[in-house]
Amino acid sequence: MEFFIDTANVDEIKKLNDMGLVDGVTTNPSLIKKIGRDHCETIKEISSFINGPISVEVIAIDSNSMINEAEKYVKWGKNIVIKIPMTPEGMKAVKILTKKNIKTNVTLVFSAMQALIAAKAGATYVSPFVGRLDDIGHSGMELVAQIREVYDNYEFETKILAASLRHPAHVLESAMIGADVATIPPSTMLKLFKHSLTDSGLAKFLEDAKSWQK
Ligand code: G3P
Repeated sequence: MEFFIDTANVDEIKKLNDMGLVDGVTTNPSLIKKIGRDHCETIKEISSFINGPISVEVIAIDSNSMINEAEKYVKWGKNIVIKIPMTPEGMKAVKILTKKNIKTNVTLVFSAMQALIAAKAGATYVSPFVGRLDDIGHSGMELVAQIREVYDNYEFETKILAASLRHPAHVLESAMIGADVATIPPSTMLKLFKHSLTDSGLAKFLEDAKSWQK
């Protein structure tokens, strides 16, 4: 399973990348707003040290404008993936971008039927939003499992990118279902290391080492 980091914060990306945990990056307009930096400058900086895919989201709502935006964004880095919302105009854009060999990530996916449509349009990635479904009392993981089954039934190559993940259990469950990628916020990524038995075991080893260290 690949791990993408779900942030536009360059310092956080660098920190987790140094630990070997960053296979790619996903951003969206809200994450760009959160860092308060220039969009283009930020993506170019991320692309200067990340070789994996970097998702950049369009803000246009009609397909022609989405395509124009996509063609601008792909010049910002070496492995830019265009994030397109799950709308009819969005799927028109995905079809055209796919023909132009521009990679896409269909975002804001909340049903397996939407994921099927995205795959039929030729999307490179599909992003089911797990946490946001959980928030309204549905099961985000059930959605990931349904998409896995549908894609396997028809051997679609579209990769399942589990998104809106809020805690390590979301990452583990996505891996067990067979999602291709998990995009994970930095704070959750750091929690993947944690186990109380690791902490207490290490504390005991360090304490015992004092007895024989000079
Ligand atoms: O990549 C977008 C997605 O991960 C959003 O997450 O926490 O805003 O629901 P969240």
